[in-house]
Amino acid sequence: MLNIVVCVSGGGTNLQAIIDGVAEGRIRNTKIVGVISNNAGAYALTRAKDAGIPAFCISPKKFENRENFNQAFLAQLEALAPDLIVLAGFLVILPEKMIEVYRNRIINIHPSLIPSFCGTGYYGLKVHEAALTRGVKVTGATVHYVDEGTDTGRIIMQKAVEVLEGDTPEVLQRRVMEQAEWVILPKAIDEIASSRE
Ligand code: GAR
Repeated sequence: MLNIVVCVSGGGTNLQAIIDGVAEGRIRNTKIVGVISNNAGAYALTRAKDAGIPAFCISPKKFENRENFNQAFLAQLEALAPDLIVLAGFLVILPEKMIEVYRNRIINIHPSLIPSFCGTGYYGLKVHEAALTRGVKVTGATVHYVDEGTDTGRIIMQKAVEVLEGDTPEVLQRRVMEQAEWVILPKAIDEIASSRE
């Protein structure tokens, strides 16, 4: 059994895709042992609670400094003892120690075809705004391992999505989620879980 912790900051539609994937047997041999958010208002926390998954909020605002936040975050992860950490829209700079301790055991979903539109400053809608500004005809999503860089780790899976005439960032974001993110993130977790058997 692959025990996973999902880290989230916002709406949690990717978390929902993982919850549904496990429930429907598309993600095999996997248990979501916890969800951690840095944001108390994240709807993702409600999704976790509704699915009966232990949900935790560890907000940097509640700590005197970054080091104390990092320690609390790492302690929560350690308590949950995950085999794999899934960053699903988690907009926090990870403590360096976390990358060391969980090397090759952290994956991230990014809403573009890396190496396009990635790195510092490219997150959420900004990625799609940049894709539309550049005028690309194809974009997509990438699941990759997390290393010390921003979106630089080894690529696990990618899926292309067409950009259509008249797309707004919001419309494109939704299409990339539906056609790529919610497909490849569950698939990547299933493959990682299967490869461990
Ligand atoms: C997703 O589109 C995800 O790819 C993106 O944030 C969104 C979270 O949505 N992540 C990044 O931009 C990371 N650089 P969700 O909370 O509905 O899953």
